[in-house]
Amino acid sequence: MKIIVTGGTGYIGSHTTVVLLQQGYDVVIVDNLCNSSVDVIDRITQITDRRPQFEKVDLSKETPTNNFFQQHQDAAGIIHFAALKAVGDSVKWPTRYYKNNLGSMVNILENMQQYSIGSLIFSSSCTVYGQPDKLPVTEDTPVQKAEAPYGNTKQINEEMIVDALAANEISNAISLRYFNPVGAHDSALIGELPLGVPTNLMPYITQTVIGLRQKVSVFGNDYDTEDGTAIRDYIHVVDLADAHLVALERLLKGQNADPYEVFNLGTGQGNSVLDVIKSFERSTGLKVPYEIVGRRAGDIEKIYADTQKAENILNWKTTRDLDQMTASAWAWEKHYREVIEKR
Ligand code: NAD
Ligand code: WQD
Repeated sequence: MKIIVTGGTGYIGSHTTVVLLQQGYDVVIVDNLCNSSVDVIDRITQITDRRPQFEKVDLSKETPTNNFFQQHQDAAGIIHFAALKAVGDSVKWPTRYYKNNLGSMVNILENMQQYSIGSLIFSSSCTVYGQPDKLPVTEDTPVQKAEAPYGNTKQINEEMIVDALAANEISNAISLRYFNPVGAHDSALIGELPLGVPTNLMPYITQTVIGLRQKVSVFGNDYDTEDGTAIRDYIHVVDLADAHLVALERLLKGQNADPYEVFNLGTGQGNSVLDVIKSFERSTGLKVPYEIVGRRAGDIEKIYADTQKAENILNWKTTRDLDQMTASAWAWEKHYREVIEKR
């Protein structure tokens, strides 16, 4: 059975492609490589002994996207990861973000309708909740006005899906709201590879310890948390990838209770920035040079998921802890710098 994975050479898409191939699905990756490399296909093949098909297409462009779908109209479902995702860049270049993230969704929805492709899984984000009043965050927690254009594209993408479903343009969809995905595949052959200076915590830590950066700036230790640093729900990317398989199969088997469902994907555990640094030091035996600096503009104090809905309905929960996340992030950084980058 053929599944289209948009953004499949990217961080989360590549891990999900591995899971799908290992489960016997035929995968067609469609990606314009604006934030990933085509070499990822070889490494996915190395892990799975199966090669996904690959098409280089910019999904925000109508004609190439239509041509792509015409060729792959026999797909049973789509997992839509492709998007620009840097919050700060989205503030600098909002129009680029709207064009890319909304334009791609328009083209995908039109083609799902045209070819009656029944199932869509969409990569949403906990960013839609802003700083919620009550923790943990359930799926019923109100969505708040987005702080940045990036978050707004996620909210609008979700609304586009809801409207397309209401008008029967498409038939079934699930939005998965990820908390903070980190870590890498056990093989250390795929992982997160930010362009330039990382803005996210985990790649900043691994790049510091490998020697590319001097020290980690811990943004604020005056939050109302145990150690004063901000709290997030970090989730291992392989657990996250597994959840995509479960959500996809729910739609393919027609087990969904409603045409549109939303699930939070997190561990349910909040960890502070210092917890992550300590975990990294514990799991790798290496020191993380860091200093406490002021808060980062736009950061929230704490957020973590209520995981009940995903556990009860998807029958999915995370199995990997923070030490496995930090250890695998480090194994990937080392293997990438020492082997893959030098090829
Ligand atoms: P990523 O940048 O590694 O992967 C996204 C992929 O999409 C890249 O390979 C990029 O080249 C491709 N892409 C972007 N625009 C495209 C276009 N117009 N046409 C074709 N390909 C295009 O990002 P990721 O971390 O794997 O994120 C995947 C999805 O999950 C995104 O939608 C992101 O917004 C969402 N998400 C990510 C996080 C996170 O922290 N990583 C958290 C919540 C949600
Ligand atoms: C985590 C914590 C920082 C870097 C972002 C997006 C969100 C989602 C996930 C896509 C925070 C602190 C960070 C550093 C630090 N993406 N930190 N020093 O901000 O929770 O979420 O990625 O949807 O939309 O906003 O993730 O990894 O940047 O930060 O102290 O050098 O680490 O302040 O408390 P964030 P992050």
